[in-house]
This record gives sequence, structure tokens and C-alpha cells, in this order.
Amino acid sequence: MSEQLIEHFIQFSYIAAAVLFVLSLKWLSAPTTARRGVRAGEIGMLLAIIGALLHHGIVSYQWILVAFVVGSLIGVPMAVLMPMTAVPQRTALSHAFGALAAALVGTAEYYLKTPNLDSFIMIALVLEMLLGFLTFTGSLMAFGKLQEVLPTRPVTYRGQNFVNLALLGIAVLIGAYLVVNPGATGLFLVFAGLCLLFGVLLILPIGGADMPTVIALLNSYAGLASSAMGFVLDNKLLIIAGALDGTSGFILSVIMCKAMNRSFTNVLFGAFGQVQVAAAGKVEERPVRSATPSEAASILETASSVIIVPGYGMAVAQAQHKVRELYESLSKRGVEVRFAIHPVAGRMPGHMNVLLAEAEIPYDKLSEMEEINGDFPYADVALVIGANDVTNPAARHDQASPIYGMPILDVDKAKTVMVIKRSMNPGFAGIENELYYMDRTLMLFGDAKGFVGEIVKSLSDGAHG
Ligand code: TAP
Repeated sequence: MSEQLIEHFIQFSYIAAAVLFVLSLKWLSAPTTARRGVRAGEIGMLLAIIGALLHHGIVSYQWILVAFVVGSLIGVPMAVLMPMTAVPQRTALSHAFGALAAALVGTAEYYLKTPNLDSFIMIALVLEMLLGFLTFTGSLMAFGKLQEVLPTRPVTYRGQNFVNLALLGIAVLIGAYLVVNPGATGLFLVFAGLCLLFGVLLILPIGGADMPTVIALLNSYAGLASSAMGFVLDNKLLIIAGALDGTSGFILSVIMCKAMNRSFTNVLFGAFGQVQVAAAGKVEERPVRSATPSEAASILETASSVIIVPGYGMAVAQAQHKVRELYESLSKRGVEVRFAIHPVAGRMPGHMNVLLAEAEIPYDKLSEMEEINGDFPYADVALVIGANDVTNPAARHDQASPIYGMPILDVDKAKTVMVIKRSMNPGFAGIENELYYMDRTLMLFGDAKGFVGEIVKSLSDGAHG
């Protein structure tokens, strides 16, 4: 192939990839088209990689092959072995790797071309390094917190706000100096070090229920770092793909902030100086009412309207297929069954939707929180399956609670509340749930898959009542 033909092919593959990325995001936003969205993204990425590999600037393919093998050795087991419940941690690691790649490419470009770098490129390069390095360490911290190898609660100390902002201020000042004097190589290293440190300090005071929003925000930073890298390398596809990633991550964080009734400043700086009042793992010794699967089956069978509230525990137990059986069994008996989906139920955006879709529960039976909350007072039974924080009434009235202000599913307003979980242990936010001590609440202790299976069996045997 002639040089010119290759160049045309590269440009074509880049444009096709950019279009596919846009379509992918559009299709990913609805469950019915989500699979198509994933395919479009995959084909787009393949085209982008082929285009990049044909670039005339490539001096040797050997190192690319080495990177490909090493990357695959890490990536394939991560994708295959990590359970779906660990997707947030996996996503955090992906952001860390992506951001590190952007920052390292920026570092290489700097040392290759300094001091012959014009101001525009230096501005892009400084932004790439700042966002890339801080996202790298920030995402590693987020991984550690979500994987619980680091303390999951906010870690705070006096003057934290001031220290963080001062550090960021110094990094920005050094960055600005480098734009004007690109030859100051010694300062470049200090700048990189400060950005790495800032990433750690930024995530330290964030924890609990704010982590999902922070992951989306780090996603946005990683995308913006790649977009800045596109300006440095003069690669239009990187600019577009990075901007798409950056803005969609940002939009997702805004949606999640709204879902949790938090502002950005609250998420990022809310824990500063604040002593967390929640006592992790503290379990109160108050009596609760419990029931057997067969008792639960009788109550469900005689109900006319049931709202099922799935949560993280359903995902852990992989109970979604049993839940479908329960849905079918009750529907056959004329019981109206619907599913209430909280925006942060589980451990990733859309977690419950994905699981229920996998079990082929009809989409029109799934309702978002604001759509269904008004219906709980008319429901005979609210059946909570492995959900905890998203049903905790303390979020409505207890100002001392770390989840105060987060909109919740109003399950406590249903005529009868049944909660399937294994023990009285708290959920992700580490706090007690007063729902369990209400007179109208029945605790159904057991593994979600096993317990729902028992209810279904009881219904089909007619062994109850
Ligand atoms: P959680 O509050 O985490 O509660 C889950 C409950 O499931 C636990 O109380 C646990 O109680 C129970 N459980 C665990 N394994 C179980 C099993 N095998 N069978 C039955 N029950 C089981 O879940 P949620 O209500 O879905 O709330 C989500 C929380 O995660 C929120 O705080 C949210 O902010 C946070 N978060 C969300 C995301 C996203 S984006 N969705 C990401 C990261 C964090 P037992 O141990 O007693 O069984």
C-alpha cells in the first residue's frame, strides 16, 4: 500500500471509530439497545487500534507486542475472573492504568521535545500530567477503599481542606511556570510528584456512599487527560474519545450526585473536619420479628400488590433467576409484582437493571425511585432482597447519619415489609437500619438465593398456610 493510501485508511478508521463511540454512548443509555452499544464501542476501539498501528511514526513493533502481551496477561484475567460485584474496583483499576498511560506518554513527550515545546502544547501537556497523575493515585486509593484493603470510611484530620487546596495551588503555579519555561526539567519532576501526592490526599477524606460518585468523577478526569494527550500528540481521535469519556463521566457524576442529593463540593470536601458518627459494625441488641420461607410465601400469596426492592445482596447471592421464578409464580396467582430500582443500589450504576435483565424480567416491571416511591403506601408487601442503605429511613430524618439527605426507597411506608438478608449486619455505609425494628417489618434471615428459592418452592408445593 502506498503511503497516501495508508494515511487515508488511518483517517477513515479514526472517523469511523469516533462515530461508533458516539453511537455506542447513545445506545448504552437504554437497556434495549445496550448490547448494540457495547458492540459499537468494541468495533470502534478495534478500528482505532488498527489505525494507530498503521501510523508511519512507529519505529518498532517489538515493544508494542511486548506491551500487548503484558496488557493482555493483566486484562484478560481481570475481565474473566473478577465477579460482577467487584466491577467498581475493576473500573477504578482501569482508570488508574488509563490515566498512568496518559501521564507517561506526556512525560515521554516532554523529555523528547523539551525545550522546543510551544505554549499551547505545554498547557495541554501540563493538564495531561496533572489529571493523569492525580487520577492514577486517586484511582488506586479508590480501588483500595472499595476492595477494603484501605479504610473505607473518610480519613480526616484538622486543616485537611487547607493542605489539599494549598498543594493543588502549588502544583498549578509550577505548571504555569513550566508553560512559560519548558526547559525547567527539575521542576517538572516536582510537578509530577505533587500531582501524584494530590491524588492520594484528594481521595483520603472520601468514603462510604460517596465512592460511586468519585469513581465516575475519576473516569471523567482520565478521559480529560486523554483528550489533552490528543492535543499534545496531534491526534484527533484521542481528543474526541477523551472528550466523550470526560463528559460522559462528568454527566454520570452529576446524575449520581442528584440521586444522592449531594453537591460536588459536598462529595469532595464534605467529610473535611467532620467526625463520622456512624459506628461501623455496631449491631444493636433490640428484638426483631422474623419469619420462615413458608410464612413469607403465605403473606405474598394473599397480597394483591408486591414491590420487590433488590440490592447488593441479590447480586452477591446471584439470586436474580430465583427472583424471576418468584415473580412468575406470584404473577400467575394474580399478584401485581413490580421492582423498585434505586440509582445506587448494588455497586455500580445500573447494577440491578443488568441483573434483572439477565434473568429476563420484563423491563416494564422495573420502576425508577421517583416513579414508584409514591406507590409504597398502597403496596401490601415491600420485599427487600439484599438491599440495606437504599431503604434506610435515617436518610430522611437523622441529621447525624452519613447518608442523611440521600433519597431512599420508601419501603417503610408499605403495609408489610419483608427483608431478606443473612444477619443484622450493616450495608456498605456501615450504619444500622431502623427499618428492621419496625412493627410492620419481618426479617427473613438467609442467603437471598436460598431463601427466595424456598419461598418459590413453598408456593408451588402449597405447603404453607
Ligand atoms: P448495601 O447497603 O451494601 O446492603 C447490602 C445488604 O445485602 C447487606 O446488608 C447484607 O446483609 C446483604 N447481603 C449480602 N450478601 C447477601 C446474601 N448472599 N444474601 C442475602 N443478603 C446479603 O446495599 P444496597 O442497599 O444495594 O446499597 C448500595 C450501597 O453501596 C450504597 O451505600 C451505595 O452508595 C454503595 N455503592 C453503590 C455503588 C453503585 S454505583 N451502585 C458503588 C459503590 C458503592 P447481610 O450481611 O446481613 O446478609
